[in-house]
Amino acid sequence: MEIWVLGFSIFLCHVCFSYAQMQGFVSLDCGGTNSHTDELGIQWVPDDQFQFGQTANISIPDETHQQYMTLRYFPNDNRKYCYTLNVTSRTRYLVRATFLYGNFDNNNVYPKFDVSMGPTPWSTIVISDASTVEMIEMIFLAIEPTISVCLSNATTGQPFISTLELRQFNGSMYIADFENQYYMSVSARINFGADSADPVRYPDDPYDRVWESDSVKKPNFLVDVASGTEKISTKMPINVDRDDRPPQKVMQTAVVGRNGTLSYRLNLDGFPGGGWAFTYFAEIEDIGPNDVRKFRLVLPDAPQASKAAVNILENAQGKDRLYEPGFMNLTLPFVLSFRFVKTSDSTLGPLVNAMEINKYLKRNGGTLDGSTITKLISQYSSADWAQEGGDPCLPVPWSWLECNSDPQPLVTAIHLSRKNLTGNIPSELTNLGGLIELWLDGNSLNGSVPDFSGCPNLKIIHLENNQLTGSVPSSLGDLQNLKELYLQNNRLSGKMPSNLGSDLVSNFSGNVNLRKASSGTSQTGIIVGSSIGAAVLLIATILSCLFLRKGKNSKKRYNDQARLRNVLPSQKLSSSLENTATEAAHCFTFSELEEATKDFEKKIGSGGYGVVYYGKLKDGREIAVKVLTSNSFQGKREFSNEVTLLSRIHHRNLVQFLGYCQEDGKSILVYEFMHNGTLKEHLYGPLTRERGINWIQRLEIAEDAARGIEYLHTGLDGASHVSSIVRGTVGYLDPEYYISQQLTDKSDVYSFGVILLELISGQEAISNENFGVNCRNIVQWAKMHIESGDIQGIIDPSLRDEYDIQSMWKIAEKALMCVQAHGHMRPSISEVLKEVQDAIMIDKEAKAAREGNSNDMSIHSMHSSLHLGSSDLGPTDSYLSIDESIARPSAR
Ligand SMILES: *[C@@H]1O[C@H](CO)[C@@H](O)[C@H](O)[C@H]1NC(C)=O
Ligand SMILES: *[C@@H]1O[C@H](CO)[C@@H](O)[C@H](O)[C@H]1NC(C)=O
Ligand SMILES: *[C@@H]1O[C@H](CO)[C@@H](O)[C@H](O)[C@H]1NC(C)=O
Ligand SMILES: *[C@@H]1O[C@H](CO)[C@@H](O)[C@H](O)[C@H]1NC(C)=O
Ligand SMILES: *[C@@H]1O[C@H](CO)[C@@H](O)[C@H](O)[C@H]1NC(C)=O
Ligand SMILES: *[C@@H]1O[C@H](CO)[C@@H](O)[C@H](O)[C@H]1NC(C)=O
Ligand SMILES: *[C@@H]1O[C@H](CO)[C@@H](O)[C@H](O)[C@H]1NC(C)=O
Ligand SMILES: *[C@@H]1O[C@H](CO)[C@@H](O)[C@H](O)[C@H]1NC(C)=O
Ligand SMILES: *[C@@H]1O[C@H](CO)[C@@H](O)[C@H](O)[C@H]1NC(C)=O
Repeated sequence: MEIWVLGFSIFLCHVCFSYAQMQGFVSLDCGGTNSHTDELGIQWVPDDQFQFGQTANISIPDETHQQYMTLRYFPNDNRKYCYTLNVTSRTRYLVRATFLYGNFDNNNVYPKFDVSMGPTPWSTIVISDASTVEMIEMIFLAIEPTISVCLSNATTGQPFISTLELRQFNGSMYIADFENQYYMSVSARINFGADSADPVRYPDDPYDRVWESDSVKKPNFLVDVASGTEKISTKMPINVDRDDRPPQKVMQTAVVGRNGTLSYRLNLDGFPGGGWAFTYFAEIEDIGPNDVRKFRLVLPDAPQASKAAVNILENAQGKDRLYEPGFMNLTLPFVLSFRFVKTSDSTLGPLVNAMEINKYLKRNGGTLDGSTITKLISQYSSADWAQEGGDPCLPVPWSWLECNSDPQPLVTAIHLSRKNLTGNIPSELTNLGGLIELWLDGNSLNGSVPDFSGCPNLKIIHLENNQLTGSVPSSLGDLQNLKELYLQNNRLSGKMPSNLGSDLVSNFSGNVNLRKASSGTSQTGIIVGSSIGAAVLLIATILSCLFLRKGKNSKKRYNDQARLRNVLPSQKLSSSLENTATEAAHCFTFSELEEATKDFEKKIGSGGYGVVYYGKLKDGREIAVKVLTSNSFQGKREFSNEVTLLSRIHHRNLVQFLGYCQEDGKSILVYEFMHNGTLKEHLYGPLTRERGINWIQRLEIAEDAARGIEYLHTGLDGASHVSSIVRGTVGYLDPEYYISQQLTDKSDVYSFGVILLELISGQEAISNENFGVNCRNIVQWAKMHIESGDIQGIIDPSLRDEYDIQSMWKIAEKALMCVQAHGHMRPSISEVLKEVQDAIMIDKEAKAAREGNSNDMSIHSMHSSLHLGSSDLGPTDSYLSIDESIARPSAR
């Protein structure tokens, strides 16, 4: 596990000029084969000491950094893969990991997996673009002499990593009151007024922090910029003074609000939550003798934060010097809107050079048995199983351990059968108070059976097939929960303890010198606890083992069933879904449909595709019968393909497909008739006025639908992954289909993205009137608005203000990802489902907060309007809150 800096000291001699700065830098080029120095002067070393995973080379046009051209990837299994790095305890560090997918597996499946810092969940990496480097950073105080960064829990693709970097800070940089209990995960570190899109980092920043340019383009990053915002810069040196401050290059650029306001909105990764937020100001303009620059920070809903006015010259005590007010713990939302507004007695608009926002992440103390397990494995430091690294139980247990589900877990099972263990049974094992199963059979363990009274929960002990000597300790008889004890084929001797439970399943055979407890005669062989009872138990055990083994094989099926149960909203749907497993759509006869529709009497809709008639089947079910115009489908094969696909749509909020009929050259599709109207009608049909559905209901519909699609994508054994939803309906159809003529899972994701946009906007997918000139399509229209930060422009006015803007943003951004032009750029439906669920949670919390504060009209108002326009300073409807006691701005 000690995988880093082997060649490190060698470099130090080559690059002596940067010795001071490079001290405390560890830069691992994961998957790399040789050491190299990049254009910044950072020295990269390969992670070739690392014994897990495989390496891959990628190539990305325009990507020239050698460290990003290689990566290490790991199997998609239930293990974790950890890098362990040496650190100096009681010292603060920045750790940074980057991920550049580059389609290394030639699969175009964008990986999604978790990264943890030891036992503490750090981030979920969601790759959404094969050629963009994803980066995560964390600031922490080292408490132990090592840290572990672990990859686990891939929900799609395989976990991988491109680089892992460690930067040691100096002295008290980033010291925080809560640093023993919290990490700080970096959410934003912004260089305002930057002269290019490149970040400022080493060597300008001796600690190699990455100061991101404010001109970088990414979704909802620094949008809603107030008019009159101007970039300014200076060549004059800035007295940065202490080394924990932003580097001079960052402070030499700024933005100024010439019209009196600077405003921005950005997404804060990891939030909502409590965070550390600081702003950095330096007066870099020449100010006339009669000019004053004074301004306030305005955070909507956090009036406390706006109290103090900033006068840079006064606060910094001079020009070209730094002032850095901030909050040590401020509760911030996921979508942060903030403004700097000039005060009435100021002649100049506000100015800002840089800002940093970090999210507090509660440290998990890890497995309670952690130190015991550490001692245990230190005796087997060369064994494979001792190299897994990270916390024994969190976020997932080592391959040979099981743990309980407490926040700080205990080890419940040890599986070290046939691992070539020698010497005594490690005494650490007898300190594991939560241990239920111990498997040490088939090793070469010698010495005696220890006293396990420190493990009162032990149920199953396997010590057979070793070389254990001595007698069987009577302390085993004191284990109240012991059900199975296997000691056969050792060298045990003496008398069996007499206090072993009568229902204990045990095997002592093959211990030549072991005598039965009761009779004094030396007798070898099996001693079964008592009589027939025990035999029955044994058989039961064997049966249950067999059953369990079988259960394991059919685990997938079991999961499918579980999934089925989770997904299905109703019994009816359940049976129809099971039917779809056979992909059989019902074939109606033409006369049957004639009868049901009373000879196509009642027309309930029509369109380019054909005409829809009302009907009623013999069993009373009401149906909608869609008679397709002859040119809708080119041929029989296409039609039957369509039927197969449609037969897989089963959702209560999408119309349920019942069957088809193809006779006399007629192609007919039969759907369930929905009295309450379909989703469409609720959203933009005549029903809207009476039965408008609110945002949470819309999200819940989306959740249900996503679950249904997820089921189709993952739950059908052996079913080919062809698209299901709304094939052929213009406006929902995957644009790639026009080229490939193939519908895939990702086509469904596209269609679902369109549905999300409909839910947000209450607009139909295609409209000749509603999207302005030259735009008929909801996707183009929504994209234009969302990407320019104007989400208000697409939100359904009938939602009034009864929604939370963050949950809206989450959905809007996910929807845009779903409707990306290329299938491989779209997320999986599972990922979308997760986002919808998060949005529901956020909206519900916000709703509760709104209602909880409904008396306090001065701060929150249920119906306060959402103003994101730059000229407005009114309260907004987000749930920003603040801890007053520590929300005072404080200069570091
Ligand atoms: C990390 O520390 C351990 C223990 O002090 C030491 O044995 C190991 O060589 C160190 N690893 C590196 C790469 O310096
Ligand atoms: C990656 O490229 C290096 C250098 O060209 C080569 O030595 C290595 O074998 C390649 N690795 C893989 C997995 O192809
Ligand atoms: C694994 O990832 C899924 C999806 O992101 C998440 O729901 C689940 O909680 C994760 N499991 C663990 C053990 O973190
Ligand atoms: C760290 O602090 C020491 C003492 O305060 C100083 O001499 C040194 O230059 C600092 N290192 C960096 C990289 O700023
Ligand atoms: C902002 O100021 C510029 C000139 O400084 C002026 O042209 C523009 O109209 C102003 N905009 C607003 C919204 O006040
Ligand atoms: C145990 O040792 C044998 C012989 O040296 C070896 O073949 C086997 O792979 C080892 N098993 C484990 C689990 O290390
Ligand atoms: C137990 O095994 C170890 C290592 O194989 C050996 O050094 C030791 O002498 C053995 N002890 C006994 C009592 O046999
Ligand atoms: C006990 O162990 C021996 C040796 O492995 C085996 O032959 C025998 O079948 C076992 N007895 C029972 C009851 O499982
Ligand atoms: C920050 O404040 C919130 C709300 O008062 C509190 O719950 C949280 O524990 C604080 N965070 C830290 C790191 O102290």
